[in-house]
Amino acid sequence: MRLVLGVGAGIAAYKSCELASRLTQDGHEVFICLTREATRFVSPRTFAALTHRPVSVEVGDEPLGPISHVTLARTAALMVVAPATADLIARMAEGRADDMLTAVYLGLRAPVLLAPAMEAEMWSHPAVKRHVERLRADGVVFIGPEEGRLASGLAGRGRMSEAARIHDRIEWLATPKTLAGRSLLITAGPTREFFDPVRFLSNPSSGSMGTAVAKAARNRGARVTLVHGPLSVPVPDGVDTVAVTSALEMEAAVFRCASDVDVIIATAAVSDWRPKTRQSEKVKKQETAMHWEMVPNPDILARLGHERARPGQILVGFAAETSDVAERGREKLRQKGVDLLLANQVGYERGFGPGDVQGVLLSRTGTEEPVVGDKTAAAQILLDAVERLFTT
Ligand code: C5P
Repeated sequence: MRLVLGVGAGIAAYKSCELASRLTQDGHEVFICLTREATRFVSPRTFAALTHRPVSVEVGDEPLGPISHVTLARTAALMVVAPATADLIARMAEGRADDMLTAVYLGLRAPVLLAPAMEAEMWSHPAVKRHVERLRADGVVFIGPEEGRLASGLAGRGRMSEAARIHDRIEWLATPKTLAGRSLLITAGPTREFFDPVRFLSNPSSGSMGTAVAKAARNRGARVTLVHGPLSVPVPDGVDTVAVTSALEMEAAVFRCASDVDVIIATAAVSDWRPKTRQSEKVKKQETAMHWEMVPNPDILARLGHERARPGQILVGFAAETSDVAERGREKLRQKGVDLLLANQVGYERGFGPGDVQGVLLSRTGTEEPVVGDKTAAAQILLDAVERLFTT
């Protein structure tokens, strides 16, 4: 994908170096347009080295041959401006074309994302607000600015969003909206089953699979609700979240919205048991062995599979297995009455957290597809299969 990254004259320009590097590593063709003042913050050579492409400042610069501003505007899939200073926002809102960045902006009809960065007083000034509103009305999407430490050393709203967050929003904007109009419910993370106020039964699930699926579905334009236990990864922007702790809470949250959604994807590692009783006081340490009676938790996915809250709803499960992965997966697919099931290998220190997936995607109709790669790649394979079910 061809991208234009416009860089204004703010100290946050150093974060744009990281953004340029990430986008280049993703395989995108990144063309940098710096304002004249921005070249005093970061050298064009820095960006040229990061993107392996010529950087432009003036309208007459030729990173893509003569009349590059027209070629760039016509061929870029997306333009990002980070940092967008008050001056740059004003020039863009007024339709000026006095440097390469603003000239490309005027010629471009692809989505434009702006990440403002300035002192809090500047951001809240009525003149800046007017320009921002005008740009919004022209279809420009804003990310940030966020609260935090500013160039002055003071705190306030005006800090440019981090490169990782801008990068995430770029992926979101640039992904074809193949799930537009669809709603998905995703369960994620572990559950905690407390037996006294400070101790619980749980598992090492981080929530990385569920959040990867949520992000991928959001990128494809779906409305996503994430019902999650305690996560050790951040919740993605742009999804509705319901935080729960125990399996019973997760079950209640899922069934509250189950009949409203087109697809349910259960990635949560729900604890199979919970203590029969829960003490209100911390249990005292003792020298002898301790016995605690456990009772089974409801199987949320199996209940969904058997009750089928909504006709035509697609149900997707996961199975974490330590051996006979495909065979046990097939068995679970039948038992739980789901349409798709991703069976994957787990073990001590394996399968949980950000690492790779090694498994197989099984379908009710008997197809089997290997799933090998990171959790983002696994999420794409899964959603491709869901989309195929919509069309059959
Ligand atoms: O039975 P097992 O835990 O291996 O099944 C895994 C699948 O079932 C996952 O999709 C998981 O989210 C779901 N599950 C559930 N409720 C449970 C146990 C598992 O929804 N109590």
